[in-house]
Amino acid sequence: MEVERDSHTSPPPSLFAETIPIIDLSNPDEELVARAVVKASQEWGIFHLVNHGITTDLISRLKEVGSEFFELPTTEKKAVAKPDDSQDYEGYTRNLQYTEGEVWAENLFHRLWPQSCINFDYWPKNPPHYRKVTEEYTREMKKLSERILGVLSEGLGLQREALKEGLGGETVEYVMRINNFPPNPQPDSNLGLPEHTDIIAIAFIVTNEVPGLQVSKDDHWFDVHYIPSAITVTIGDQILRLSNGKYKNVLHRVTVDKEKQRMSWPVFVDANPDVVIKPLPELNTDNPSKFKPITCKDFKYCRLLKLPVD
Ligand code: SIN
Ligand code: FE2
Repeated sequence: MEVERDSHTSPPPSLFAETIPIIDLSNPDEELVARAVVKASQEWGIFHLVNHGITTDLISRLKEVGSEFFELPTTEKKAVAKPDDSQDYEGYTRNLQYTEGEVWAENLFHRLWPQSCINFDYWPKNPPHYRKVTEEYTREMKKLSERILGVLSEGLGLQREALKEGLGGETVEYVMRINNFPPNPQPDSNLGLPEHTDIIAIAFIVTNEVPGLQVSKDDHWFDVHYIPSAITVTIGDQILRLSNGKYKNVLHRVTVDKEKQRMSWPVFVDANPDVVIKPLPELNTDNPSKFKPITCKDFKYCRLLKLPVD
């Protein structure tokens, strides 16, 4: 996979004083919070949430079970490997043969919700409490995601449920991805993830203390700083399209480090595959639709094969 060659360092802070918004969800002024979420989603497509209601203890346990899994010998990790002939994304994959310009990461992907979509074959059995911790985190993620989708819907002048319903209501899928980026011998010529926008609706990310995520705004790359206990939210392509372009799908990439191991745990909120992704109809009384209706599965197929969508 092609990795771009520009510098991976962000501009000096004096040149670009802007920073990624940090939003305190415990602020009793809910309107203020809502305005901050909407503004950040329009201008950046990324923001940090603090005091979001998910305990530090649960986040630490989530990180612990994920780290324990990635510390296992490769043969054990392969117990949940993505089968070579699989048409789906679930399972463990590994790209850690050093080649200049290649992606440098190992990942685990599995669905979390709805229950009917879960395939526990791809959930690690080791460590043994992986499942319990991950199920607890999923319940919290659902609550947080529904709250943020509600705020974003109201920011469009719509009912709280509008975006959730537009993504498939109770059939919206929640997916865990754990990324492990070990130290890399040539960090200037490798990326953990090349620049991309997410093909899903919205992601909720926790990471270890090693930075590496960078986002693009107004043609500049910004480092995403590590904030202990924060959850970082990124807007993906599906919300861009449902909001008819009002909310921004943030372009981002992940750098690697010569000495330090980075890990991240994004949970993706993804439309039901059969849902037609299109600007919410109530939005288009004044504005023409900027995006062509397309089923979620066809949209992803086109995006993954780099075929035109609109
Ligand atoms: C991603 O999901 O694109 C990367 C998240 C991260 O590693 O911070
Ligand atoms: Fe991403």
